Amino acid sequence: LNAKLHLEPTRVVAPVSRRTFGSFVEHMGRCVYGGIYEQAHPRADADGFRSDVLALVRELGVSLVRYPGGNFVSGYKWEDGVGPVADRPVRRDLAWHSLETNEVGVDEFMRWANKAGVEVMYALNLGTRGVQEALDVHEYLNQPDRTHLAELRRGNGSEKPYGISMFCLGNEMDGPWQTGHKTAYEYGRLAAETARALRSAQPGVELIACGSSSSSMPTFGAWEAEVLELAYDQVDYISAHAYYEPLDGDVGSFLASAVDMDHFIDSVVATADSVGARLKSKKRINISFDEWNVWYLSRHQASQASVTEWEVAPRVIEDSYDVTDAVVVGSLLISLLRHSDRVTAACLAQLVNVIAPIRSEPDGEAWRQTTFHPFALTSRLSRGEVLDVKIDSPVYETSRFGAVPIVDAVATHDDGALSVFAVNRHQSESVSFSFPATGTVAEAWVLSDDDPAATNTQADPDRVTPRELATSVSEGIVTVTLPPVSWSAIRLG
Ligand code: AHR
Repeated sequence: LNAKLHLEPTRVVAPVSRRTFGSFVEHMGRCVYGGIYEQAHPRADADGFRSDVLALVRELGVSLVRYPGGNFVSGYKWEDGVGPVADRPVRRDLAWHSLETNEVGVDEFMRWANKAGVEVMYALNLGTRGVQEALDVHEYLNQPDRTHLAELRRGNGSEKPYGISMFCLGNEMDGPWQTGHKTAYEYGRLAAETARALRSAQPGVELIACGSSSSSMPTFGAWEAEVLELAYDQVDYISAHAYYEPLDGDVGSFLASAVDMDHFIDSVVATADSVGARLKSKKRINISFDEWNVWYLSRHQASQASVTEWEVAPRVIEDSYDVTDAVVVGSLLISLLRHSDRVTAACLAQLVNVIAPIRSEPDGEAWRQTTFHPFALTSRLSRGEVLDVKIDSPVYETSRFGAVPIVDAVATHDDGALSVFAVNRHQSESVSFSFPATGTVAEAWVLSDDDPAATNTQADPDRVTPRELATSVSEGIVTVTLPPVSWSAIRLG
């Protein structure tokens, strides 16, 4: 099989947005407690943060972290998590049927984010709360001084305001499972008024309205249209969330998940632009794809009956990822990058333990899941501008998406250097893949394995890692062989 990538360095989609390489820390399962924070662990630093996890977060190349939820945020009282730790109340977390000790609150998280070198996207509770509480947490976080809540923050040890730029106006408010779930009209009005108030406090704030929790929601499309009709002038982004898994063992369709993500993005862009046209607005709403990943959701749903209730940091959705999952994660990054003109922020959900690229246990070192690798390489090698490429590829039949190209790819270009990311979705055939050589090969990596079900474990953390990919350059063309079920990254300098 053969596939070709056509590119022209002057044909540009958009600059690479560093915010594409975001992730997500929710007070859920062992993401915070036992994940980023574990005071009793030998690798905990003076603040109780695990230094081995922090080192992997930096290596992953995460730019932005959404916090503190997720479904959790829709019942969260941020005030519970500030001030002396001994005085903080233990609360029920209705979203995950667990206990929240509030040992980590926003001040601790901001300290962690500073150590990790990441921007924070703060999610507001618009489930059980409203405009006033959104203003209050904003005042605590971003007001420099003199007001009651700014002085409270200073008294709690954070002299300077945190200067958070991005706020999510709630989480998945279209979902009936959400605490305080709303109709599109109820939510659109609340989002607009919360946004208007926040903008009076901070005119340049970047605000994200909730879009659909998945493209299979019955209200998909109609929800975005109604919310944006009500809040178009007040918000900057509409969110999108998508999780993928092989359904009924259909690996062929699973490997083509990016086809669904492409369609999802194109549909939301079309919906947002049609609202903009009706409102005669010159403003463009972008997409914050602030939850995406592989998630074995049906396994989780099937195991709900056995969940022990009201535990602190129970083990929840600690999916173990294999090579096929990593290839899908790599291909979803290709989809996000090629939509960089409209998807300018995205968050791999989540960061540690909970459907995460990083795993940790109470003993021993944290380790990289298979999915860590395509994310880290794409974050490190995507630079400059995303190119508008064309791919000639043979196709294969899938039951969910019909005929799908076997090879998918995207390229970025910076100062004469080129990075190409490519996936081979065929389950048994290699593909010879070629593209114009704009320079010499600086590095080339492939993630594949004779056993696509291979995983990394604490006992064998480097079972699956990227290998060097052999390249040949002849008459101005680079050619590589993409193994079956593989993801590759090639950098020409
Ligand atoms: O990431 C896990 C959960 O998935 C989040 O809490 C929620 O927003 C989504 O449904």
